[in-house]
Amino acid sequence: MKILVTGADGMLGKDLMAMLSRDPEVMGVNRSGMDITDLDKVKDMIARYKPVVVVHTAAFTDVDGCESKPWDALRTNAVGTRNVSLACMEVDAAMLYVSTDYVFSGAKAAPYTEWDTPDPINLYGQSKYAGEIAVKDHLRKFFIVRTSGLYGRHGKSFIQSILHAAHDKPELTVVNDQISLPTYSRDLADAISRLVKTKHYGTYHITNTHENFGISWHDWAALILRETGMANVRLTPITSAQLNRPARRPPYSALGNTFFYLRDFPTMRPCHEALTAFLKEVGLK
Ligand SMILES: NC(=O)c1ccc[n+]([C@@H]2O[C@H](COP(=O)([O-])OP(=O)(O)OC[C@H]3O[C@@H](n4cnc5c(N)ncnc54)[C@H](OP(=O)(O)O)[C@@H]3O)[C@@H](O)[C@H]2O)c1
Repeated sequence: MKILVTGADGMLGKDLMAMLSRDPEVMGVNRSGMDITDLDKVKDMIARYKPVVVVHTAAFTDVDGCESKPWDALRTNAVGTRNVSLACMEVDAAMLYVSTDYVFSGAKAAPYTEWDTPDPINLYGQSKYAGEIAVKDHLRKFFIVRTSGLYGRHGKSFIQSILHAAHDKPELTVVNDQISLPTYSRDLADAISRLVKTKHYGTYHITNTHENFGISWHDWAALILRETGMANVRLTPITSAQLNRPARRPPYSALGNTFFYLRDFPTMRPCHEALTAFLKEVGLK
């Protein structure tokens, strides 16, 4: 199956390529191969390759950076995604767009469903939501896959930051008023590689799961430290107001995997099992 993957050098992109590229017809492109902000280049590449489906992972993913560079965020996440959608439309390709839990405000107290209305509270979420609208405006054959808190072997994530900090400092402070569902990039890549080979188009929430429907960054950090034998590091909960980062974060952004489950795809595993698998993958367990 001819699949083109954008953002192939990113964290998710690399895991996706490792999973999909056993098929010689799968091609990954990075920024130098296809800058998604350049409509002519995007159209040219997609018209020449004629994929059956484009898996679009490329994005401006620095959530705080989006606040200081709003035009760059919109150019990449909104216009770039629009460019990919237009190019897909011209060759009748399907498109899978990877979006985020940050399209939601976090005011809800139960997992967000695919039919909840997005109301982003930061620039990153707004730009990714604008990307979703562009996909829906141009295509009938689309998947929108919202996920959250990605971590994996090929990128910098919360886990790596906590482990580095734990080596340098005797005490760590982590926010306990933001709850979400951290998701292993390899698990998401596996789910996407199954979904993309179907015609079950639509919007999906795909994350690892948790018995309490979400975990705070503080509790996630405690689990990471415990699982890596560093439970002795002192962990102090703080509030988002104390941390005072440039971008506001939704206080609760756990996603419910309703449609993925109802379509009979394999259930995503719990966060703690995925964490163990990741720690084994990187040789920390
Ligand atoms: N990370 C998370 O926690 C998270 C959570 C929810 C959803 N998501 C979504 O999941 C997807 C994958 O995230 P990720 O963490 O794997 O991201 P990532 O590691 O930051 O990778 C993104 C890739 O996009 C590329 N890119 C940026 N601008 C580009 C452009 N103009 N043209 C072509 N390529 C460009 C980057 O290339 P350069 O290195 O050259 O900039 C990078 O290789 C994204 O769509 C993101 O919004 C991520």
